[in-house]
Amino acid sequence: MAKIIDGKAIAANLRADIAASVEKIVATGGRAPGLAVVLVGEDPASQVYVRSKGAATREVGMVSLEHKLAATTSEADLLRLIATLNADPAVDGILVQLPLPAHIDAGKVIEAIDPHKDVDGFHPVNVGRLASGAPALAPCTPTGSLLLAQSVQTQLSGLDAVVIGRSNIVGKPMAQLLLRENCTVTVAHSRTRELAAVVRRADLVVAAVGKPEVVRGDWIKPGAIVIDVGINRVAAGEGKTRLVGDVAFAEAKEVAGAITPVPGGVGPMTIACLLRNTLDAYRMRGA
Ligand code: GUN
Repeated sequence: MAKIIDGKAIAANLRADIAASVEKIVATGGRAPGLAVVLVGEDPASQVYVRSKGAATREVGMVSLEHKLAATTSEADLLRLIATLNADPAVDGILVQLPLPAHIDAGKVIEAIDPHKDVDGFHPVNVGRLASGAPALAPCTPTGSLLLAQSVQTQLSGLDAVVIGRSNIVGKPMAQLLLRENCTVTVAHSRTRELAAVVRRADLVVAAVGKPEVVRGDWIKPGAIVIDVGINRVAAGEGKTRLVGDVAFAEAKEVAGAITPVPGGVGPMTIACLLRNTLDAYRMRGA
């Protein structure tokens, strides 16, 4: 029976550490770090994320600046707002909630953000710095996933790690972070042959597929660490729904050494890591 990794508790500890750092900055006459979150349109899921990011920012004593723009906002207007935020000394972090409406080129918007304020770690400068082993703002979900794995085993060096999924937001940066920890990293994806056999070799599995419970219990090497990034809403009968991960949790927990639940695993870590990146960005700017 696996150890269940309590992401909620680990994230709460991280947020408390960040709050203590901010309190110290402010107590010694410093300016509180500021995080600007930009939401374009009314996507309900994005609205929920943006609201909880704002609340979490204020809770650690940082300043939350929320910019809610109409779905019809032009790309030029959004780029102008980003230029203003780049130039604003009170703004340490800028996050543009994705996805953006189809008429806006997300790549162009990400590249317009000052890399020093890119708390999502999506700017090509940060992607490149992470890949080349330089200090970088790294994406929040993979950073949180790494911290959860390290909460079970501090030293990941030499482990066979399999990342399932190759997105720019999770899979690719996750692979880079694990490589930096000296894991032997395999990135599997939708075209991978014999996926079950590939996963069976892994001492550490990170599932970021976005499909409910595709990773089965008999794919897991006994004793492996399993980090489940998936958040999938599925029908639970009587018109109700429930959240499940990319891993069949009930099966996998019988085999794994440690496993994250959904919800309460990786999810809470993402916002905590966003706050950590904002504090890092503040310090790196020497504010
Ligand atoms: N949409 C879903 N995940 C993310 C994320 O990590 N950052 C941003 N900016 N948008 C998202």
